[in-house]
Amino acid sequence: MPVITNIEDLKRIYRRRVPKMFYDYAESGSWTEQTFRENTSDFDEIRLRQRVAVDMSGRSTATKMIGQDVTMPVALAPVGLTGMQCADGEIKAARAAEKFGVPFTLSTMSINSIEDVAEATTKPFWFQLYTMKDTDFLSRLIERAKAAKCSALVITLDLQILGQRHKDLKNGLSAPPKLTPATIANLMTKWSWGLGMLGAKRRNFGNIVGHATGVSDAANLGAWTAEQFDPTLDWGKIAKIKEMWGGPVILKGILDAEDAKMALQVGADAIIVSNHGGRQLDGAISSIRALPSILDAVGDEVEVHLDSGIRKGQDILKAVAMGAKGTYIGRSFVYGLGAMGEAGVTKALEVLHKEMDISMALCGRRTISDLDRTILMIPENFEGRWQ
Ligand code: GLV
Repeated sequence: MPVITNIEDLKRIYRRRVPKMFYDYAESGSWTEQTFRENTSDFDEIRLRQRVAVDMSGRSTATKMIGQDVTMPVALAPVGLTGMQCADGEIKAARAAEKFGVPFTLSTMSINSIEDVAEATTKPFWFQLYTMKDTDFLSRLIERAKAAKCSALVITLDLQILGQRHKDLKNGLSAPPKLTPATIANLMTKWSWGLGMLGAKRRNFGNIVGHATGVSDAANLGAWTAEQFDPTLDWGKIAKIKEMWGGPVILKGILDAEDAKMALQVGADAIIVSNHGGRQLDGAISSIRALPSILDAVGDEVEVHLDSGIRKGQDILKAVAMGAKGTYIGRSFVYGLGAMGEAGVTKALEVLHKEMDISMALCGRRTISDLDRTILMIPENFEGRWQ
Protein backbone atom coordinates (compact mmCIF):
# COMPACT_ATOMS: atom_id res chain seq x y z
CA MET A 1 0.00 0.00 0.00
CA PRO A 2 1.57 3.33 -1.05
CA VAL A 3 2.01 6.03 1.59
CA ILE A 4 -0.53 8.73 0.78
CA THR A 5 0.25 12.13 2.21
CA ASN A 6 -1.57 14.55 -0.09
CA ILE A 7 -4.28 14.87 -2.74
CA GLU A 8 -1.75 14.67 -5.59
CA ASP A 9 -0.80 11.15 -4.40
CA LEU A 10 -4.42 10.08 -4.78
CA LYS A 11 -4.57 11.68 -8.21
CA ARG A 12 -1.58 9.67 -9.43
CA ILE A 13 -3.20 6.38 -8.37
CA TYR A 14 -6.57 7.50 -9.77
CA ARG A 15 -5.00 8.18 -13.15
CA ARG A 16 -3.57 4.65 -13.29
CA ARG A 17 -6.79 2.91 -12.29
CA VAL A 18 -9.62 4.68 -14.11
CA PRO A 19 -10.34 4.64 -17.87
CA LYS A 20 -8.93 7.64 -19.70
CA MET A 21 -12.31 9.00 -20.76
CA PHE A 22 -13.47 9.38 -17.13
CA TYR A 23 -10.13 10.69 -15.89
CA ASP A 24 -10.21 13.26 -18.70
CA TYR A 25 -13.84 14.14 -17.90
CA ALA A 26 -12.92 15.06 -14.32
CA GLU A 27 -9.58 16.62 -15.15
CA SER A 28 -10.77 18.99 -17.86
CA GLY A 29 -11.72 22.61 -17.94
CA SER A 30 -13.51 24.19 -20.88
CA TRP A 31 -11.67 25.42 -23.99
CA THR A 32 -8.15 26.65 -23.12
CA GLU A 33 -8.56 25.68 -19.44
CA GLN A 34 -7.32 29.08 -18.24
CA THR A 35 -10.00 29.36 -15.54
CA PHE A 36 -9.48 25.72 -14.54
CA ARG A 37 -5.76 26.42 -13.97
CA GLU A 38 -6.24 29.75 -12.23
CA ASN A 39 -8.73 28.30 -9.74
CA THR A 40 -5.82 26.49 -8.11
CA SER A 41 -2.92 28.84 -8.87
CA ASP A 42 -4.77 31.89 -7.47
CA PHE A 43 -5.00 30.21 -4.06
CA ASP A 44 -1.19 30.16 -4.04
CA GLU A 45 -1.06 33.95 -4.50
CA ILE A 46 -2.40 34.35 -0.96
CA ARG A 47 0.05 33.72 1.87
CA LEU A 48 -0.63 32.72 5.47
CA ARG A 49 0.58 34.80 8.42
CA GLN A 50 2.59 32.63 10.81
CA ARG A 51 2.12 33.31 14.54
CA VAL A 52 4.00 31.66 17.40
CA ALA A 53 3.78 31.01 21.14
CA VAL A 54 0.00 30.56 21.04
CA ASP A 55 -1.59 27.70 23.02
CA MET A 56 -2.63 25.24 20.32
CA SER A 57 -4.39 22.69 22.49
CA GLY A 58 -8.09 21.90 22.21
CA ARG A 59 -8.44 22.79 18.54
CA SER A 60 -11.57 22.14 16.48
CA THR A 61 -12.48 22.59 12.83
CA ALA A 62 -16.18 21.94 13.53
CA THR A 63 -18.69 24.51 12.35
CA LYS A 64 -22.09 24.73 10.62
CA MET A 65 -23.11 25.03 6.99
CA ILE A 66 -26.73 26.21 6.50
CA GLY A 67 -27.31 25.42 10.17
CA GLN A 68 -26.14 21.81 9.84
CA ASP A 69 -23.21 20.53 11.91
CA VAL A 70 -20.04 19.72 9.93
CA THR A 71 -16.71 18.46 11.24
CA MET A 72 -14.95 20.90 8.92
CA PRO A 73 -16.27 23.57 6.53
CA VAL A 74 -16.25 21.25 3.54
CA ALA A 75 -19.00 19.51 1.58
CA LEU A 76 -18.66 17.05 -1.29
CA ALA A 77 -19.63 18.91 -4.45
CA PRO A 78 -22.07 17.45 -6.97
CA VAL A 79 -20.03 15.69 -9.67
CA GLY A 80 -21.69 14.17 -12.73
CA LEU A 81 -20.83 10.54 -13.59
CA THR A 82 -19.24 9.87 -10.19
CA GLY A 83 -20.41 6.26 -10.48
CA MET A 84 -18.25 5.89 -13.60
CA GLN A 85 -15.10 6.78 -11.65
CA CYS A 86 -15.68 3.74 -9.46
CA ALA A 87 -18.53 1.23 -9.26
CA ASP A 88 -21.35 2.61 -7.08
CA GLY A 89 -19.27 5.75 -6.71
CA GLU A 90 -22.02 7.99 -5.36
CA ILE A 91 -22.95 5.45 -2.68
CA LYS A 92 -19.31 5.10 -1.63
CA ALA A 93 -18.67 8.85 -1.55
CA ALA A 94 -21.90 9.50 0.37
CA ARG A 95 -20.97 6.87 2.95
CA ALA A 96 -17.49 8.30 3.41
CA ALA A 97 -18.92 11.83 3.81
CA GLU A 98 -21.51 10.63 6.30
CA LYS A 99 -18.90 8.87 8.44
CA PHE A 100 -16.62 11.90 8.34
CA GLY A 101 -19.42 14.29 9.23
CA VAL A 102 -19.57 16.45 6.11
CA PRO A 103 -22.45 16.88 3.62
CA PHE A 104 -22.58 14.87 0.39
CA THR A 105 -24.25 16.49 -2.62
CA LEU A 106 -25.73 14.15 -5.22
CA SER A 107 -25.68 15.43 -8.80
CA THR A 108 -28.74 15.22 -11.05
CA MET A 109 -26.31 13.62 -13.55
CA SER A 110 -25.21 10.91 -11.12
CA ILE A 111 -25.04 7.22 -11.90
CA ASN A 112 -26.53 5.99 -8.59
CA SER A 113 -30.02 7.41 -8.18
CA ILE A 114 -31.43 9.53 -5.35
CA GLU A 115 -33.14 6.40 -4.02
CA ASP A 116 -29.94 4.28 -4.21
CA VAL A 117 -28.05 6.81 -2.09
CA ALA A 118 -30.91 7.26 0.39
CA GLU A 119 -31.10 3.49 0.87
CA ALA A 120 -27.35 3.19 1.47
CA THR A 121 -26.99 6.07 3.97
CA THR A 122 -28.56 6.98 7.30
CA LYS A 123 -28.29 10.77 7.35
CA PRO A 124 -29.79 13.27 4.90
CA PHE A 125 -27.67 14.29 1.92
CA TRP A 126 -28.05 17.32 -0.37
CA PHE A 127 -29.43 17.11 -3.90
CA GLN A 128 -28.16 19.20 -6.81
CA LEU A 129 -30.73 20.16 -9.40
CA TYR A 130 -30.30 20.96 -13.06
CA THR A 131 -33.34 22.68 -14.44
CA MET A 132 -34.97 20.80 -17.30
CA LYS A 133 -37.32 21.78 -20.11
CA ASP A 134 -39.55 18.85 -19.14
CA THR A 135 -41.37 20.44 -16.20
CA ASP A 136 -43.10 17.18 -15.21
CA PHE A 137 -39.74 15.46 -14.93
CA LEU A 138 -38.39 18.44 -12.99
CA SER A 139 -41.20 18.37 -10.45
CA ARG A 140 -40.91 14.59 -10.10
CA LEU A 141 -37.18 14.98 -9.46
CA ILE A 142 -37.89 17.52 -6.71
CA GLU A 143 -40.53 15.21 -5.21
CA ARG A 144 -38.06 12.30 -5.27
CA ALA A 145 -35.46 14.42 -3.43
CA LYS A 146 -38.11 15.36 -0.86
CA ALA A 147 -39.16 11.73 -0.43
CA ALA A 148 -35.49 10.81 0.12
CA LYS A 149 -35.40 13.47 2.88
CA CYS A 150 -32.61 15.47 1.25
CA SER A 151 -31.83 18.37 3.59
CA ALA A 152 -30.92 21.00 0.97
CA LEU A 153 -31.49 21.64 -2.71
CA VAL A 154 -28.44 22.95 -4.56
CA ILE A 155 -29.60 24.62 -7.78
CA THR A 156 -26.85 24.98 -10.39
CA LEU A 157 -27.19 28.25 -12.28
CA ASP A 158 -24.18 28.23 -14.59
CA LEU A 159 -24.94 25.26 -16.82
CA GLN A 160 -28.00 25.87 -18.98
CA ILE A 161 -25.72 25.03 -21.86
CA LEU A 162 -22.51 23.03 -21.66
CA GLY A 163 -19.08 24.67 -21.96
CA GLN A 164 -17.00 22.69 -24.44
CA ARG A 165 -14.39 20.35 -23.02
CA HIS A 166 -12.30 19.21 -25.98
CA LYS A 167 -11.23 15.88 -24.51
CA ASP A 168 -14.80 14.70 -23.89
CA LEU A 169 -15.57 15.15 -27.60
CA LYS A 170 -12.37 13.47 -28.69
CA ASN A 171 -12.87 10.56 -26.28
CA GLY A 172 -16.56 10.11 -27.18
CA LEU A 173 -17.47 10.32 -23.48
CA SER A 174 -20.53 8.26 -22.58
CA ALA A 175 -21.91 6.23 -19.68
CA PRO A 176 -21.36 3.33 -19.98
CA PRO A 177 -18.36 3.75 -22.33
CA LYS A 178 -19.02 2.86 -25.97
CA LEU A 179 -16.77 0.04 -27.07
CA THR A 180 -14.48 1.33 -29.80
CA PRO A 181 -11.01 -0.10 -30.51
CA ALA A 182 -9.46 2.80 -28.54
CA THR A 183 -11.70 2.37 -25.46
CA ILE A 184 -11.29 -1.41 -25.50
CA ALA A 185 -7.50 -1.04 -25.58
CA ASN A 186 -7.63 1.40 -22.68
CA LEU A 187 -10.14 -0.66 -20.65
CA MET A 188 -7.90 -3.72 -20.91
CA THR A 189 -5.35 -1.88 -18.75
CA LYS A 190 -8.00 -0.98 -16.12
CA TRP A 191 -9.04 -4.45 -15.01
CA SER A 192 -9.86 -3.64 -11.35
CA TRP A 193 -12.16 -0.82 -12.50
CA GLY A 194 -13.80 -3.21 -14.98
CA LEU A 195 -14.30 -5.96 -12.41
CA GLY A 196 -15.92 -3.47 -10.05
CA MET A 197 -18.19 -2.22 -12.82
CA LEU A 198 -19.41 -5.74 -13.60
CA GLY A 199 -20.98 -5.80 -10.13
CA ALA A 200 -22.16 -2.16 -10.07
CA LYS A 201 -25.76 -1.37 -9.25
CA ARG A 202 -25.96 0.97 -12.26
CA ARG A 203 -23.96 1.95 -15.32
CA ASN A 204 -26.05 4.81 -16.70
CA PHE A 205 -27.72 7.98 -15.40
CA GLY A 206 -29.82 6.64 -12.51
CA ASN A 207 -31.92 9.77 -11.93
CA ILE A 208 -32.90 9.96 -15.58
CA VAL A 209 -33.07 6.64 -17.38
CA GLY A 210 -36.49 5.15 -16.70
CA HIS A 211 -37.74 8.43 -15.14
CA ALA A 212 -37.69 11.02 -17.94
CA THR A 213 -40.44 10.32 -20.44
CA GLY A 214 -39.19 9.23 -23.83
CA VAL A 215 -35.58 8.91 -22.65
CA SER A 216 -34.37 5.39 -22.65
CA ASP A 217 -30.73 6.10 -23.31
CA ALA A 218 -29.08 9.15 -21.75
CA ALA A 219 -25.60 7.85 -22.45
CA ASN A 220 -24.14 11.05 -23.84
CA LEU A 221 -23.99 13.91 -21.36
CA GLY A 222 -23.38 16.57 -24.00
CA ALA A 223 -26.27 15.52 -26.22
CA TRP A 224 -28.64 15.08 -23.28
CA THR A 225 -27.79 18.51 -21.88
CA ALA A 226 -28.36 20.19 -25.23
CA GLU A 227 -31.72 18.44 -25.59
CA GLN A 228 -33.11 18.63 -22.07
CA PHE A 229 -31.59 21.45 -19.99
CA ASP A 230 -33.72 24.59 -19.82
CA PRO A 231 -31.99 27.47 -21.63
CA THR A 232 -34.73 29.88 -20.47
CA LEU A 233 -33.87 29.56 -16.77
CA ASP A 234 -34.19 32.96 -15.07
CA TRP A 235 -34.65 34.37 -11.54
CA GLY A 236 -38.45 33.98 -11.76
CA LYS A 237 -38.07 30.26 -12.45
CA ILE A 238 -35.53 29.92 -9.64
CA ALA A 239 -38.05 31.51 -7.22
CA LYS A 240 -40.71 28.99 -8.41
CA ILE A 241 -38.38 26.03 -7.87
CA LYS A 242 -37.56 27.32 -4.39
CA GLU A 243 -41.28 27.42 -3.65
CA MET A 244 -41.81 23.87 -5.01
CA TRP A 245 -38.98 22.60 -2.82
CA GLY A 246 -39.98 24.42 0.38
CA GLY A 247 -36.68 23.66 2.19
CA PRO A 248 -33.16 25.13 2.31
CA VAL A 249 -31.88 26.27 -1.08
CA ILE A 250 -28.27 26.82 -2.08
CA LEU A 251 -27.62 28.65 -5.37
CA LYS A 252 -24.47 27.43 -7.10
CA GLY A 253 -22.49 29.22 -9.78
CA ILE A 254 -22.41 32.85 -8.59
CA LEU A 255 -19.33 34.76 -9.72
CA ASP A 256 -20.60 38.32 -9.81
CA ALA A 257 -21.77 40.64 -7.02
CA GLU A 258 -24.87 41.65 -9.01
CA ASP A 259 -25.94 38.00 -9.32
CA ALA A 260 -25.25 37.52 -5.60
CA LYS A 261 -27.70 40.35 -4.88
CA MET A 262 -30.31 38.66 -7.11
CA ALA A 263 -29.77 35.40 -5.24
CA LEU A 264 -30.42 37.27 -2.02
CA GLN A 265 -33.66 38.65 -3.43
CA VAL A 266 -35.01 35.19 -4.30
CA GLY A 267 -34.29 34.13 -0.72
CA ALA A 268 -31.33 31.74 -1.11
CA ASP A 269 -30.13 30.23 2.18
CA ALA A 270 -26.60 30.13 0.80
CA ILE A 271 -24.79 30.87 -2.43
CA ILE A 272 -21.78 29.09 -3.85
CA VAL A 273 -19.15 31.30 -5.44
CA SER A 274 -18.21 29.00 -8.28
CA ASN A 275 -17.17 28.84 -11.92
CA HIS A 276 -18.03 25.14 -12.09
CA GLY A 277 -14.43 24.08 -11.60
CA GLY A 278 -13.41 26.04 -14.71
CA ARG A 279 -15.68 23.80 -16.81
CA GLN A 280 -18.06 26.44 -18.15
CA LEU A 281 -16.97 30.02 -18.99
CA ASP A 282 -13.28 29.83 -19.84
CA GLY A 283 -11.77 33.25 -19.16
CA ALA A 284 -13.91 33.88 -16.08
CA ILE A 285 -12.01 34.78 -12.91
CA SER A 286 -11.16 32.18 -10.30
CA SER A 287 -13.62 31.65 -7.45
CA ILE A 288 -11.15 32.73 -4.77
CA ARG A 289 -10.51 36.01 -6.63
CA ALA A 290 -14.27 36.61 -6.96
CA LEU A 291 -14.98 35.87 -3.29
CA PRO A 292 -14.05 39.22 -1.64
CA SER A 293 -16.35 41.39 -3.78
CA ILE A 294 -19.26 38.97 -3.32
CA LEU A 295 -18.71 38.92 0.44
CA ASP A 296 -18.66 42.71 0.44
CA ALA A 297 -21.95 42.78 -1.47
CA VAL A 298 -23.99 40.16 0.42
CA GLY A 299 -21.79 38.52 3.07
CA ASP A 300 -23.76 39.93 6.01
CA GLU A 301 -27.09 38.74 4.65
CA VAL A 302 -26.56 35.27 3.21
CA GLU A 303 -24.14 32.41 3.79
CA VAL A 304 -21.44 32.53 1.17
CA HIS A 305 -19.73 29.25 0.21
CA LEU A 306 -17.00 28.62 -2.36
CA ASP A 307 -15.98 25.83 -4.70
CA SER A 308 -13.46 25.41 -7.56
CA GLY A 309 -9.76 24.87 -7.04
CA ILE A 310 -9.50 23.35 -3.56
CA ARG A 311 -6.75 20.73 -3.47
CA LYS A 312 -5.22 21.49 -0.05
CA GLY A 313 -6.37 22.13 3.50
CA GLN A 314 -4.62 25.48 3.25
CA ASP A 315 -7.02 26.44 0.43
CA ILE A 316 -9.99 25.74 2.72
CA LEU A 317 -8.34 27.80 5.46
CA LYS A 318 -7.80 30.72 3.07
CA ALA A 319 -11.40 30.70 1.78
CA VAL A 320 -12.85 30.49 5.29
CA ALA A 321 -10.51 33.12 6.72
CA MET A 322 -11.58 35.38 3.87
CA GLY A 323 -15.19 34.97 4.98
CA ALA A 324 -16.68 31.88 3.29
CA LYS A 325 -18.85 29.82 5.64
CA GLY A 326 -18.13 26.63 3.75
CA THR A 327 -16.30 25.14 0.79
CA TYR A 328 -16.84 22.21 -1.59
CA ILE A 329 -14.45 19.68 -3.03
CA GLY A 330 -15.15 17.96 -6.35
CA ARG A 331 -11.99 16.66 -8.02
CA SER A 332 -10.21 16.22 -4.67
CA PHE A 333 -12.69 13.56 -3.60
CA VAL A 334 -13.02 12.04 -7.08
CA TYR A 335 -9.25 11.35 -7.12
CA GLY A 336 -9.66 9.43 -3.85
CA LEU A 337 -12.72 7.58 -5.09
CA GLY A 338 -11.08 6.49 -8.35
CA ALA A 339 -7.90 5.51 -6.51
CA MET A 340 -9.36 3.50 -3.63
CA GLY A 341 -13.17 3.65 -3.52
CA GLU A 342 -14.80 4.66 -0.23
CA ALA A 343 -11.48 4.42 1.64
CA GLY A 344 -9.97 6.84 -0.87
CA VAL A 345 -12.70 9.44 -0.26
CA THR A 346 -12.11 9.08 3.47
CA LYS A 347 -8.39 9.48 2.83
CA ALA A 348 -8.98 12.68 0.83
CA LEU A 349 -11.08 14.09 3.68
CA GLU A 350 -8.45 13.10 6.25
CA VAL A 351 -5.65 14.68 4.23
CA LEU A 352 -7.53 17.97 3.83
CA HIS A 353 -8.59 18.00 7.46
CA LYS A 354 -5.08 17.47 8.74
CA GLU A 355 -3.63 20.10 6.42
CA MET A 356 -6.27 22.58 7.47
CA ASP A 357 -6.04 21.86 11.20
CA ILE A 358 -2.24 22.09 11.42
CA SER A 359 -2.07 25.19 9.22
CA MET A 360 -4.78 26.86 11.33
CA ALA A 361 -2.73 26.10 14.46
CA LEU A 362 0.45 27.50 12.89
CA CYS A 363 -1.49 30.69 12.17
CA GLY A 364 -2.19 30.83 15.89
CA ARG A 365 -5.92 30.00 15.72
CA ARG A 366 -7.81 27.15 17.35
CA THR A 367 -11.36 27.30 16.03
CA ILE A 368 -13.23 28.26 12.88
CA SER A 369 -14.82 31.23 14.64
CA ASP A 370 -11.29 32.55 15.41
CA LEU A 371 -10.51 32.79 11.69
CA ASP A 372 -10.54 36.12 9.89
CA ARG A 373 -8.64 37.98 7.18
CA THR A 374 -5.84 38.96 9.57
CA ILE A 375 -4.29 35.49 9.11
CA LEU A 376 -4.05 36.14 5.37
CA MET A 377 -1.52 38.11 3.36
CA ILE A 378 -3.47 39.04 0.26
CA PRO A 379 -1.59 40.77 -2.59
CA GLU A 380 -2.77 44.34 -3.02
CA ASN A 381 -4.16 43.81 -6.47
CA PHE A 382 -5.58 40.32 -5.79
CA GLU A 383 -9.14 41.16 -6.85
CA GLY A 384 -7.77 42.94 -9.90
CA ARG A 385 -8.65 46.36 -11.25
CA TRP A 386 -10.71 45.41 -14.25
CA GLN A 387 -12.13 47.99 -16.66
C1 GLV B 1 -21.41 18.68 -15.21
O1 GLV B 1 -21.81 19.20 -14.21
C2 GLV B 1 -20.13 18.89 -15.75
O2 GLV B 1 -19.47 19.87 -15.39
O3 GLV B 1 -19.72 18.05 -16.57
